[in-house]
Amino acid sequence: MQRPTPSWLSSAIFYEIYPQSFRDSNGDGIGDLPGVIEKLDYIQSLGCDAIWLNPCFESPFRDAGYDISDFYKVAPRYGTNADLVRLFREAHKRGMRVCLDLVAGHTSTDHPWFQASAQPKKNKYSNWFIWTDSGWKEPGAPMTGIKGVYDRDGVFVVNFFAHQPALNFGFANPDPTKPWQLPVSHPDTKAVRRELMKIMRFWLDKGADGFRVDMASSLVKGDTDFRETMALWREIRAVYDRDYPEAVLIAEWSNPALAIAAGFHIDFLIHFNVTAYTTLFRDEAGRDVFNAEPSGGAGRSFFDRAGRGDIRRFTDVFQAHYEPTRELGFISLPTGNHDIGRLAMGRTKAELEVAFAFLMTQPGVPYIYMGDEIGMRQVEGLPSKEGGFGRTGARTPMQWDAGKNAGFSKAPAKKLYLPIDPAKDRPTVARQERDAKSLLNHVRRLAKLRRETPALSAAGDFTPVYAKAGKYPFAYTRSAQGRTVLVAVNPAGKPVKVTFEAGKIAENTKLLLGRGAKLKVKREKVTLEMAGVSWGIWG
Ligand code: NOJ
Ligand code: CA
Repeated sequence: MQRPTPSWLSSAIFYEIYPQSFRDSNGDGIGDLPGVIEKLDYIQSLGCDAIWLNPCFESPFRDAGYDISDFYKVAPRYGTNADLVRLFREAHKRGMRVCLDLVAGHTSTDHPWFQASAQPKKNKYSNWFIWTDSGWKEPGAPMTGIKGVYDRDGVFVVNFFAHQPALNFGFANPDPTKPWQLPVSHPDTKAVRRELMKIMRFWLDKGADGFRVDMASSLVKGDTDFRETMALWREIRAVYDRDYPEAVLIAEWSNPALAIAAGFHIDFLIHFNVTAYTTLFRDEAGRDVFNAEPSGGAGRSFFDRAGRGDIRRFTDVFQAHYEPTRELGFISLPTGNHDIGRLAMGRTKAELEVAFAFLMTQPGVPYIYMGDEIGMRQVEGLPSKEGGFGRTGARTPMQWDAGKNAGFSKAPAKKLYLPIDPAKDRPTVARQERDAKSLLNHVRRLAKLRRETPALSAAGDFTPVYAKAGKYPFAYTRSAQGRTVLVAVNPAGKPVKVTFEAGKIAENTKLLLGRGAKLKVKREKVTLEMAGVSWGIWG
């Protein structure tokens, strides 16, 4: 039986906002919530009707806010809880939705819960984090322990950076010789679980439309088959279905078969775990892999003018996740995010157009990372900011116009959260607004076509029709309500001509959008003639 999903998801297009770099409304050099509100009309003009906001809660910002010290309070640099509620209201007025980031697996070491847990004297929070029972005993791989910082006689487990202690959701198979490994049924690990739901309810009740869950697979430790982690999320999903049926639960898991079975409505396929994303992007010939797990074909992404990719390395993996999940939830292939190199890295505008044509016609829910719609570039050579390291260059301020600080902020340039891309020809929204042929307007046209074409909606069928190992182009159909749309992309620099079985593609199929591609349908055969770096959508 098909499980209920929020009704708005099938046509949703998300926009990811890294709040500190989006729009600074009060001139302190840091983006903020009133700045997001100012730009809601712009986001809507793109065709996006949902927002994923990176963490905006109180934090010492040693990992850009993924290190939370109060889950119930907006960080003063972004505004107040009232500003966030106003953002929900302003978005809803426009028929848009706002999802928050739920850092479920860890806190900052500054969080009062952890500060209490680090006390030698037993208290309510002693078991809220994972501590071994001696300051000399490591938790053991694959866990990472930190020792010698606090007076409590134990080593604590971290989830990511050393200042991000793992919340204690228990162990799937506690080792009886290690009594510090509590079971998932322990009252204290249950209390942590209840607190997580309390945080979600707090913001959902204030008007949030859902959560993107950070490191969603990390909660229960020693859970090699993820059985207990999945049971935990299913429990939370049941609360959603009962009390918040229009709210969305989005995983950062990058294993849709598991995440969607665990109750998530959406899972991202990104640069780690199931390596399908890097067979497409971020593993291009001669370019930096950029925080991505190599896809097993180093330097051979499909979306690369070198044309050395192999689309089967994508479709084989994608289909294995799509088939079992298509009735239950959605897979998302984002344009990028705050953790990986910019899509524009090493790509021309024409190449970005092809990438967008593909990303905006995939099944599942599209995500545009702020600035990708204008082709914002990776800014090289920046010192690390707030734990960004190699990620910092994808986090620079949004480029709005030709004014001071590219319209991001009125602050003196040296006070900005991060410098503006120094390139003289850096893309801006204002310039691209005026140019019908800009990437921005290309993205708008694709979003509009997607919205108006049921076959292209999240749930429309997806069938590869030309996907041959080591060959270009890649062609697929999307279908719904008896209508079929054909999409073909040739990201390689060389022209190609291919013929294949027409299947559901009609002889009178017309070009809806495209560049450099010709289609002929005759006697159940399709012939595609495509220039180097070209694409087409027919229906
Ligand atoms: C994934 C987030 O996207 C990333 O920015 C963060 O550093 C880690 N999780 C740790 O929370
Ligand atoms: Ca500000």
